[in-house]
Amino acid sequence: MAKVTLSEGVYWVGAVDWNVRSFHGFTTPYGITYNAYLIVDEKITLIDTVKYPFYEEMLEKIKEIVSPQEINYLISNHVEMDHSSSLPLIFKETPNAQLIATKRGIAGLRKYYKESPLVKGVGGCLPFVPVKEGDELSIGKRTLKFIETPMLHWPDSMATYLVDEGILFSMDAFGQHLATSRRFDDEVGLEIIMPEAAKYYANIVMPFGSQVLKTIDKAKDLKINMLATSHGVIWRQNIGTIIESYVKWANGEAEEKVLVIYDTMWNSTEMMAKALVKGIINEGVEVKLFKLTGSDTSEIIKEVLTAKAILVGSPTLNNGMFPTVAGFLEYMRGLRPKGKIGAAFGSYGWGKGAVRGIEEMLQKTKIEVLDANLEFQFVPDKEELQKCVEFGSSVARQVKREA
Ligand code: FEO
Repeated sequence: MAKVTLSEGVYWVGAVDWNVRSFHGFTTPYGITYNAYLIVDEKITLIDTVKYPFYEEMLEKIKEIVSPQEINYLISNHVEMDHSSSLPLIFKETPNAQLIATKRGIAGLRKYYKESPLVKGVGGCLPFVPVKEGDELSIGKRTLKFIETPMLHWPDSMATYLVDEGILFSMDAFGQHLATSRRFDDEVGLEIIMPEAAKYYANIVMPFGSQVLKTIDKAKDLKINMLATSHGVIWRQNIGTIIESYVKWANGEAEEKVLVIYDTMWNSTEMMAKALVKGIINEGVEVKLFKLTGSDTSEIIKEVLTAKAILVGSPTLNNGMFPTVAGFLEYMRGLRPKGKIGAAFGSYGWGKGAVRGIEEMLQKTKIEVLDANLEFQFVPDKEELQKCVEFGSSVARQVKREA
């Protein structure tokens, strides 16, 4: 098998999971990669591992380069199991290795793998070495530097910087869920990578925008020749593009774009949604319409990332929202999109409730709620639909002023 070389002595030894279609609820139609890296110097170092079903694949790649017994350091940048769950397995092959992680990382690994040799130790010793911000480790001709990145996206998270080559092993940050046979950004193309990088940011990183900005600020004086993320392609040609995109996303910069997101029972709410779209188009503003039944929530959240306005509609069911609408709003609330305006609309039979429920959820999400007054009984008539068109236009005009 051809070795994947980042620079002389630095290898990708990860795995490609072509068939996974959900990453804890985030749809992954193009699969995932779990990136692990091996640095061969006087001390041999493995940075992160792969999800455990892919352990043998990783081991085979390592064995083509060195004997696992020669590994001196196992670095765990992040304890989430897609990166750490092969540690207890590889540790059986690396009896003399020390395991390096942040203090919180070590606590997490002890808890995850308390029954494994990793935690119980080999020969009675516990091989954990905690590191903190700015610590350095000489591995021979090269030096590694550790950069803590708490809540990007877990408390334990850190990045490892290979000083000499300027390679930042950035863990989940700058990743994409994209299985390819190519390992580098210039081999795949931005038109394929960027939508997946945006979807990844929106569904995983979006709540942690302030930590993203702090980390980018901390890294501003580092010379970065490669961003070796834990998922997807390694950035070596478009590093500026992905960093600028992260800054834009973390600051909540929006485009002139409105989303109309709804579900419907007997088409009344759908009629309103389409009337809103008509009003937005009349003002020349981009709009996307999503009926929640049958739509991919993680794709909608990707659009939320860069939309300025989010209009959410639901029929009233049992004095509340339609379940798909409630589920979507709860997911979006947790992701804390920044700087949005929003409004609710909907239909009802004999009792209201959905519009009030949507407005409450938008407020909890810190979205500025506009007073739409669009809640109509049974089937909206011509005048009521015209009100929807006019409200859509007024939102579009506001978006043009503010985006
Ligand atoms: Fe890719 Fe947070 O794990």
